[in-house]
Amino acid sequence: MTPPALHFLIFAALLLLSKTRAAADSSQTEYTLTNPKLPPPNTLSTSKKYEGSSDLVNLRYHMGPVLSSSPINIYLVWYGRWPNYQKLLIKDFILSISPAAAAAKPSVSDWWRTVSLYTDQTGANVSRTVLIAGEHSDHLYSHGKSLTRLSVQQVIGTAVESAPFPVDHKNGIFLILTADDVTMQDYCRAVCGFHYFTFPSMVGYTMPYAWIGNSAKQCPEVCSYPFAVPGYMAGGGPAALKPPNGDVGVDGMISVIAHELAELSTNPLVNAWYAGEDPTAPTEIGDLCEGLYGTGGGGGYIGQVMRDNKGRTFNMNGRRGRRFMVQWVWSPVLKACAGPNALD
Ligand SMILES: *[C@@H]1O[C@H](CO)[C@@H](O)[C@H](O)[C@H]1NC(C)=O
Repeated sequence: MTPPALHFLIFAALLLLSKTRAAADSSQTEYTLTNPKLPPPNTLSTSKKYEGSSDLVNLRYHMGPVLSSSPINIYLVWYGRWPNYQKLLIKDFILSISPAAAAAKPSVSDWWRTVSLYTDQTGANVSRTVLIAGEHSDHLYSHGKSLTRLSVQQVIGTAVESAPFPVDHKNGIFLILTADDVTMQDYCRAVCGFHYFTFPSMVGYTMPYAWIGNSAKQCPEVCSYPFAVPGYMAGGGPAALKPPNGDVGVDGMISVIAHELAELSTNPLVNAWYAGEDPTAPTEIGDLCEGLYGTGGGGGYIGQVMRDNKGRTFNMNGRRGRRFMVQWVWSPVLKACAGPNALD
């Protein structure tokens, strides 16, 4: 789950502590390194940041499957009105996960390498290859503009019938992305995205799925943080960071998609990798590192990330020269949050 760990309680000034220095690598345009101080996130939910303090983390394997069949086939459902440029941006992120995606370092596929370190009880690792196997546009909002955790399965049921999607038990997952005018139960208050699995009574069979919404009009300061900050912070308060692709809603959403895909792959039936004793409120590999994007993060810092010559922030590269800002995930090997832009 992605709880909106990122609203804030206290609003001290943002110290733009800019430890800038010339980038060591000379790929594409130049960039500098920055580690902006941001207000502490609200930890109203299960989300906690454990940066470095691995003693507190008891991430355990509960004997269930992980997504080890390769490739992971994503069946995408675009729910509501989705402009093409936003679809392309999200698809470029998803297609950057596989090692075959040509990208400068630090890359999205290096980020996913940490996810692929998780194994099941047979020793099989999470697949390194992720494809988009099918797409369905539900631009007429077949189940309305106000969805719930259950009705999102009706949306999947409709997509399965009308796309139509094959029954892909071995490799398939569903990814449901809702447009900025669609509300979801608990959205903005308790979650920015979630993953679960479908019920035979709703969809016809059981398959893992994830849902993520575009928060641009509803709660960007919660679900697209740090690209938006609460209104009451305006005027002398901390400034939002510039998103890498100029789209606050979608650039923020991409980190949530990344978070959910990482968790879904390592805990697809909610009986594999999670911390805590309660499977109905598991703390998963993305939750452990929420709000952390680089080395030196924690205590109000997102960590060291890159800033291009137009002031846009990012921490990894994708295909076709795209840049993204994606949170880190927990490494089972390092027993700490890890990402490709780590300064070792
Ligand atoms: C599979 O996971 C194990 C355990 O984390 C790791 O040591 C190994 O390198 C991984 N293998 C691949 C091919 O990623």
